[in-house]
Amino acid sequence: MTSRYRVEYALKSHRRDEFIEWIKGLTAVPFVLHAGSGNNFLVGDAERFQIEACRKYAEIFRDVEKMVSNQIDAQSHDRAQFGRLKQLVPTVGTFFTELPLERAFFVQDSKRAISKRRMVAPSFNDIRLILNTAQAMAVAQPPDEVRLVTFDGDVTLYEDGHNLEHGDPVIHRLTDLIRQGIYVGIVTAAGYPEKSGKMYYQRLGALFEAIAKDRTIKDEYKSNLLIMGGECNYLFRLNGEGKLEYVEKELWALPQLLEWSDRDAEELLDQAQKLMVKELDTLQLNNISRIYRKDRAVGLIPLEHCVIPRESLEEIVLNCQHTLSSLDVARRVYFCAFNGGADVWVDIGDKRYGVLSLQRFLGNIPSSKTLHVGDQFASIGANDFKARLAACTVWIANPRETVEILDELLLYLDE
Ligand code: IMP
Ligand code: MG
Repeated sequence: MTSRYRVEYALKSHRRDEFIEWIKGLTAVPFVLHAGSGNNFLVGDAERFQIEACRKYAEIFRDVEKMVSNQIDAQSHDRAQFGRLKQLVPTVGTFFTELPLERAFFVQDSKRAISKRRMVAPSFNDIRLILNTAQAMAVAQPPDEVRLVTFDGDVTLYEDGHNLEHGDPVIHRLTDLIRQGIYVGIVTAAGYPEKSGKMYYQRLGALFEAIAKDRTIKDEYKSNLLIMGGECNYLFRLNGEGKLEYVEKELWALPQLLEWSDRDAEELLDQAQKLMVKELDTLQLNNISRIYRKDRAVGLIPLEHCVIPRESLEEIVLNCQHTLSSLDVARRVYFCAFNGGADVWVDIGDKRYGVLSLQRFLGNIPSSKTLHVGDQFASIGANDFKARLAACTVWIANPRETVEILDELLLYLDE
C-alpha cells in the first residue's frame, strides 16, 4: 500500500458512500458504451443513443433492486454477511424495505435527463436522488405505510443556523403528514435542558403555530409533532394549543440510555473539552473560536463574524472521534462527534437512540415504517449517519430537496 493510498483510504474513506459509488461504477459502463458521441449535430443518432442508454441504465437499476431483495432475504435468515450485495459492498447496512430502483430511475431520469447526457456520466447526486425516490416509494407502499417521519434540523428543515420562517414551503408539507395521522419527529443535535423548550420556539415556532391553527387537522393529531433534542437527550411534544410539553426521560428513554451515568457522561465531555482546548492552540484558532460546554454536549464554535476553516473542523472532529473512542469511558456511554459545517460538537448519545426512543414511545413503530430525512450521512464526523441503524433514510443536500422529497412522498402516499 503506498502511503498516498493509505492516506486516501484510512483518512478519507468516511467521506464516500460505498453503495452509491458502486452503483455509479455500474452505470459508467453503459455511459461509455451507449451514451453516444458528443457531436450535437447528429440529431437522429442522439435519440437512438438516448433510448439505448436509458434502457441499459434501467436494466442496471432493476438488477440492483433484485440484489437488495436478495440481501433482505439473507438478513431475514440471519445470514446478512453472506448476501451477495454485502460481499460486493461490505459497508452496506441493513435494508428495512425493498427499493423499487427501476421505477425510481425513470422518475429521476424524467426530471434530470440523466440518459440524455452524453458528456457527463451518472453522478453521485443522480444516484443519491434515485435512492431517495425509491425509499419514498417503498415507505408509501400499502399496507406498510410510514408512521413516523423524522427530520434533522439544520440544513434539512432550514438553512444552517437559521430559523423556520412563517410561510416556509416545508411547513405545509409537514402539516400534510400530520393531517394523515403520521407522526413527525424533529431529531436534532441542538439540545437545551430548559423544560420550557424556549429555544425551540425560536427555531420552529412557525411550525407549532401552523399546526395549532390548522382546522383541518383532527384534534387527536395535533400532538403528533415531537422534538428530540441533543440527539437523544431531551424530548418535547406539542400540545393542542401549540405549546411544547417536556416529557420526562423515564417515560421515553430506552433502557440503555438510562444506564449511562451522569458521571461517565461528564467524564467523556471533560476529555472532549480538553482535546478541543488543545486543538484551539495547535490549529491557531484562539482568535476566531471558543469552547461552549453544555449539560450533554461540548462544542467548538466560531466567534461572531468568524469562520473556522473547513480543514480545521475536519481535523478536530476526526481527532475527537479517534481519541475519545479509545477511552474506557467510551465503552460505558455513547457519544457522537460531528462537524456541523461551521462548528464541531461532541454530544452524549446519537440519533440512532433518538429515533429508537421515539419509535418505542409512540407504540413500537418498526424501522420499516420510519423514515429519517437528514443531510449528514458520511460515516464519521456526521450525525445523521447513525439514524440508518434505526430507520429508512433519505439523504438530502439542502432544505429545497427536503421539500421535493416530501412532495414525492405525499404523492406516493396518495396513489
Ligand atoms: P442538526 O443539524 O439539527 O442536528 O443540528 C446541528 C447543529 O445544531 C450544530 O451544527 C450546531 O450549530 C447546533 N447546536 C446547538 N446546540 C448543539 C448541541 O448541544 N450539540 C450539537 N449541536 C448543537
Ligand atoms: Mg443537519
